[in-house]
Amino acid sequence: MSKLKKVLVIGVGSIGERHLRCFQQTGRAEVGICELNNSLRENVARDYKVKSVFENLDSALNEKWDAAVICTPAHIHIPIAIQIAKKGIDLLIEKPLSTSLDGIDELIKTIDENQVIAVIAYVLRAHPLFNLFREVIQSERFGKPLHLAASSGQNFPFFRPAYRDIYYKDRATGGGAIQDALTHLINAMEWTVGPITSLTADASHQKLEGVEVEDTVNVITRHGQMLGSFSLNQYQDANELTVTVTCEKGTVRMEVHKSRWRWVDHPEKEWNDEPIEPVERDTGFIKQADLFLDAVEKSAPPLCTIEEAFQTLKVNLAILDASDNHIWKTIS
Ligand SMILES: NC(=O)c1ccc[n+]([C@@H]2O[C@H](COP(=O)([O-])OP(=O)(O)OC[C@H]3O[C@@H](n4cnc5c(N)ncnc54)[C@H](O)[C@@H]3O)[C@@H](O)[C@H]2O)c1
Repeated sequence: MSKLKKVLVIGVGSIGERHLRCFQQTGRAEVGICELNNSLRENVARDYKVKSVFENLDSALNEKWDAAVICTPAHIHIPIAIQIAKKGIDLLIEKPLSTSLDGIDELIKTIDENQVIAVIAYVLRAHPLFNLFREVIQSERFGKPLHLAASSGQNFPFFRPAYRDIYYKDRATGGGAIQDALTHLINAMEWTVGPITSLTADASHQKLEGVEVEDTVNVITRHGQMLGSFSLNQYQDANELTVTVTCEKGTVRMEVHKSRWRWVDHPEKEWNDEPIEPVERDTGFIKQADLFLDAVEKSAPPLCTIEEAFQTLKVNLAILDASDNHIWKTIS
């Protein structure tokens, strides 16, 4: 068995705790943590029997690490990533890559110069149903994709009761439906049908109490010749995610909440259902951790490269601008 990789999780709030647990579950990592909040750090260290525990990044970086997982709010991902990449430590960075384009060129240069593996944690790429859906579309079994319609919603306050008190409350720290929630679906669909080339959008705060950021968003997209639309709200009680892609010779649909994809290829025929085993939330994160460790060992490519996450970041920013100013945006 190969030696355990030393992995530092930076920030052990909601997602950092999950990464800690899921990296431990791989059986391939010895995980340390770094967290500014004293009581949170002590509780998490105790609950997960963590031996290497640090109050801040500078003291954590006095030790040697193979990899680091950046789980702080998005507006500080880039300076932390640059500091770590300069030490030659491989990086898994939570989504979104950032909240602006500041520092991205410097990060890419630092990663190249120090030959660092960098992966962005767009975890839907590790979900078995998203992988099946992508394989079917990219195989062109139903011909070329022509039109995509994605619709998603959940009761966010039910799943994240602390939403008013965390980064979510402010766009500047990565908050709101566009940067926090929709970005997952945008990135997964760019991976499936190709990058967004232009878009327009409408977004608004409709319901969530105690915040003013948008909780509802509609986006109209172009992916080259293909047309798409994305619709998301954060208060519907049904926790659902459906994507329909109509191709030249048939329609393919993914229903994540029903753990199935389905297809139909004639107007008089019924849907053909292709179910999968229901997927636990940690499953995708354990898979993502395993694939990241494979990339660190150079036995697999990064699941989401920094260039792909940079493209999705440009889309996030374009959606914010398009919805605020009622304009079409081209993604360069
Ligand atoms: N992949 C997913 O499904 C998913 C889910 C939730 C959040 N996220 C992303 O993960 C990131 C964090 O989200 P969260 O919900 O865990 O937020 P959170 O507020 O629950 O946790 C962030 C933690 O980082 C700590 N922190 C901040 N600066 C630090 C620093 N310099 N050094 C050490 N610790 C520091 C904070 O004290 C806090 O405990 C965001 O980018 C968010 O978009 C991803």
